[in-house]
Amino acid sequence: MNILLTGATGTLGSNLLYKLLLREDIEKLYLLVRDKKGTTAKARLTKILSSKTAPKEIRNSIQKQLHKIAVFNSDEFFKPENYIDTSAEIFCIHSAGFVNLSTNKAHKDEIFSENFDFTKRIFECFKPYVSKFVYISTAYSIGDIGGLIPNTFHTKNAKPNFRNFYEESKYLAEQYLLKNAKTANIQLQILRPSVLGGNIFENSQYFISKYMVYYLLAKFFHNNPFVNDSIRIAINKNTGLNIIPVDYAASIIEKAFTMNIKELNIVHSTSTNLFNGIQRIAETVNFKKLEIVSPSLNILESFSSKLETLYYNSIGIHLEPYLTSTPYEYDTRLLESILPIPLYDTVDYLEHTVAYAKERAFRNKRW
Ligand SMILES: NC(=O)c1ccc[n+]([C@@H]2O[C@H](COP(=O)([O-])OP(=O)(O)OC[C@H]3O[C@@H](n4cnc5c(N)ncnc54)[C@H](OP(=O)(O)O)[C@@H]3O)[C@@H](O)[C@H]2O)c1
Repeated sequence: MNILLTGATGTLGSNLLYKLLLREDIEKLYLLVRDKKGTTAKARLTKILSSKTAPKEIRNSIQKQLHKIAVFNSDEFFKPENYIDTSAEIFCIHSAGFVNLSTNKAHKDEIFSENFDFTKRIFECFKPYVSKFVYISTAYSIGDIGGLIPNTFHTKNAKPNFRNFYEESKYLAEQYLLKNAKTANIQLQILRPSVLGGNIFENSQYFISKYMVYYLLAKFFHNNPFVNDSIRIAINKNTGLNIIPVDYAASIIEKAFTMNIKELNIVHSTSTNLFNGIQRIAETVNFKKLEIVSPSLNILESFSSKLETLYYNSIGIHLEPYLTSTPYEYDTRLLESILPIPLYDTVDYLEHTVAYAKERAFRNKRW
């Protein structure tokens, strides 16, 4: 079997790449990797394979791994007629995406272009070649719904309450694929991780290549420029944020992509309670002036400090819809039948992953 993989330089994709390389039934991996900041696609790929966070078996056999991989930048990748071996079965795993929780209308076009238009382009280009298309979406594509969320939720009359353009663009990409994969007679699988956190398994525990979502809050508290200022953050005390370790999510994708599963949320069975979780984040980065208030208090009407103004003019405004969501959990029975979710306390995990990031000054991995 051969695999077309997008997003291999990403938080999730790099982890997935390692797992796919360790499978013996994959002959060739075709990767879309952009040249970036003067580093060629091939050089970026070599950095990923030789990183000390890569599995030893891969680090110790880079030439062998490179032999299995064909890497293309954007221009070449979209000309599959020049390189695809049509004698083997081909699956596409589309993990490239733009994780941006902005609620600012100025960012809408870019978020839609990177998530919705780009997915359409990948699907249309490769549909003559692939027998299965695996789309990496997000567990939040259903919007702010509350209750117990199933794996399958698209219905004709649904009107989701999206928290931002990211959720909407991923939801519309799912709908496009559901309709068009059927017409093209291609098997479709939609896999939806929740918020990605650092590794949970022992190899490079807590490592993640890019600090996003809750890490941004920790980074904000940590780099506070107004040390004497306090900040009020509105939280629904009963709600949580679903966080899943990136290596567990990649393991599930690596196991599920050959299975006959149409839609699957890759999530924790218990959301991390935000009331406790955010206090723990603040403690971990030694930020003492946090006051948690009820969402009914309209903080946006008048800010009480420079720090609060800065927060709500930057990440605060984008995180707010998640901190005040209707409480929800996910049905994880199917997920856990593939690989049990490792047992740990979700608030302790939050602390450990934030402490790991703090030690590294929240610096993303560059490759
Ligand atoms: N991070 C999360 O918490 C999270 C949670 C749920 C779902 N997801 C979904 O999981 C998938 C992977 O996310 P991630 O966390 O790995 O994101 P990430 O770390 O930001 O990586 C994004 C990947 O997509 C590639 N990419 C983006 N736009 C591209 C384009 N126009 N052409 C070629 N490559 C492009 C990036 O390439 P470059 O390195 O060249 O930029 C990178 O490899 C996404 O679909 C995302 O929506 C992420």
